[in-house]
Amino acid sequence: MHKMLVAGNWKMHGTLSDALAYAEALRPREGVEVAVMPPFPLLHALAEPLAAKGVALGAQNAFYEQKGAFTGEVSPAMLVDAGCRFVILGHSERRHILGESDEVIAKKLAAAWEAGLEPVLCIGELLEEREAGKTEEVLTRQLAILAQFRGEMKPLTIAYEPVWAIGTGKTATPETAEAAHAFVHEELARTFGRDVRVLYGGSVKPENALALMERPGVDGVLVGGASLKAESFNAIIAAGAEAAARKQEEVGA
Ligand code: 13P
Repeated sequence: MHKMLVAGNWKMHGTLSDALAYAEALRPREGVEVAVMPPFPLLHALAEPLAAKGVALGAQNAFYEQKGAFTGEVSPAMLVDAGCRFVILGHSERRHILGESDEVIAKKLAAAWEAGLEPVLCIGELLEEREAGKTEEVLTRQLAILAQFRGEMKPLTIAYEPVWAIGTGKTATPETAEAAHAFVHEELARTFGRDVRVLYGGSVKPENALALMERPGVDGVLVGGASLKAESFNAIIAAGAEAAARKQEEVGA
């Protein structure tokens, strides 16, 4: 069984004073790992306050080179220097707004691993792809970049984020999420040669977090909007701890 992870992707939100108050207000729980992914300018300032709480730090993107003449880019090595353990790669907003291809994402994965980061690789289908019955085809294609790393014991977390559920308030039902996660776990074993933790992302809120995380194969959540306030993120962390405890009981039973 994978250790449950509750991660907050702040996207392009947050000021220094809000971030420090937020770190102070966070309430991590037993049995669940917690990570916060703020924008680049807040990483250094949050590293220590989060570490003091046992909360991991992550970034939302990284470039595929460690240094050089790449104006405006940030390297995986710099993220490690800032105290990051995680880096989100292939988020749908980068795929669909900024045109990131699977090829570029594969290069970023290799660079993140080289620097010692744990990538949180995001995958997920568009609404028209789901409606056309192409969900599995899309997930297979997005996971295919892992084949070249098959057999390598690199730390990796996957986030299944159906694009139609991101920021729309339309969460996947626990049944839909469970089915997609089962497919992703199988596909990981086939492509990467190893199963890893698979998070669900897309309109996760305190009200639906437990129902999602208690499903088999849902090993945590990647939260956008509801991670911006410590109060709602704390409630999701508590739901993660509850889901982890229930799963533990099932294993023990
Ligand atoms: P929302 O939780 O705001 O739908 O965002 C999900 C997401 O994209 C997390 O990476």
